[in-house]
Amino acid sequence: MKNIYRNSFYNLNKAKRILEKNQILALPTETVYGLAGNAYSHKSVKRIYSLKKRPQKNPLIIHYYNLELLKKDAEYDKNFLRLYKKFSPGPLTYILKKKKKSKVSKFANAKLKTIAVRFPKNKIIRSLLKKLAFPLAIPSANISTGVSPTDPLDVVDEFKNKIKFILNGGKSLIGLESTVINLSSKPAILRPGSISRTQIEKVLGKKVSNVTKSKFVISPGMHKRHYSPGIPIKLNSIKPDYKAAFIVFGKKYKMKKNMFNLSKKSNLKEAAKNLYKVLRKIKKLKYKKINVVKIPNKNIGIAINDRLKKASN
Ligand code: TXA
Ligand code: MG
Repeated sequence: MKNIYRNSFYNLNKAKRILEKNQILALPTETVYGLAGNAYSHKSVKRIYSLKKRPQKNPLIIHYYNLELLKKDAEYDKNFLRLYKKFSPGPLTYILKKKKKSKVSKFANAKLKTIAVRFPKNKIIRSLLKKLAFPLAIPSANISTGVSPTDPLDVVDEFKNKIKFILNGGKSLIGLESTVINLSSKPAILRPGSISRTQIEKVLGKKVSNVTKSKFVISPGMHKRHYSPGIPIKLNSIKPDYKAAFIVFGKKYKMKKNMFNLSKKSNLKEAAKNLYKVLRKIKKLKYKKINVVKIPNKNIGIAINDRLKKASN
């Protein structure tokens, strides 16, 4: 595919020049693929919203190489530093208070007083961030409310030739979006991910609440329908409905044509890595309905169930 570029010194420099011209490209992170633009540029940020057809009031995550640039953009405390030391770079996003002097475009954080920040671990995006004098605003590289991409072809699937430059990092290591924690007031998980609440509580030495189920929308992206393949999904099924695709987990299933196994080894990490690919495949095969078996609600299974729940709305 002509718009997919392999990771090389030459291509990273090309990516750098694209971003410096305030244009948009797609790139890998350890969670999912993202659409990246200069977070300090109104033009870049607005372009991301229009490409994704994303509502203006749903803010983006700003991706940094390390603490150096962040200091100018956000305020942080001891809780942040403890978590940063343990989990960053990695799949954890922090909601912090935005500094008045911050250069991050107000459109990137939906004119809120807070800002979401992350330090990705994938080595391609890290080499790129290291070359840049600005952080990157990066949402997942899918049309708003859809399924996140976990390889370069998924990005092509979403945007066709509208994205001219996609850096190839192979299949996403984790396959589900980062954990989001609010640190701008009492610590609370806004979106579960591969880093669990229990792991975070251990580092902070205290209980952290979970507001993903809250009636009050705290994270603007917590609106109900999300991560959706655009087909009705029924959860906790024992067997598939007539002509439905059946998503299963574990070894007790005899494979049939309509059956898609997230992990024959009953491995939740493997299931997380496969989930979005399977949803995309089922949509391509034109199934009109999806049934999913019960997935164990522990570790990254909590994040899998969160995405399935939202996809089923
Ligand atoms: O793993 C990830 O986080 C991926 C990769 C590409 O880094 N990115 C990602 O971005 O999932 P996106 O835009 O698809 O999701 C960002 C989430 C949304 O739920 C959004 O509402 C929330 O972060 N968010 C961003 N800024 C926020 C803020 N100031 N306060 C509360 N929630 C915020
Ligand atoms: Mg997204």
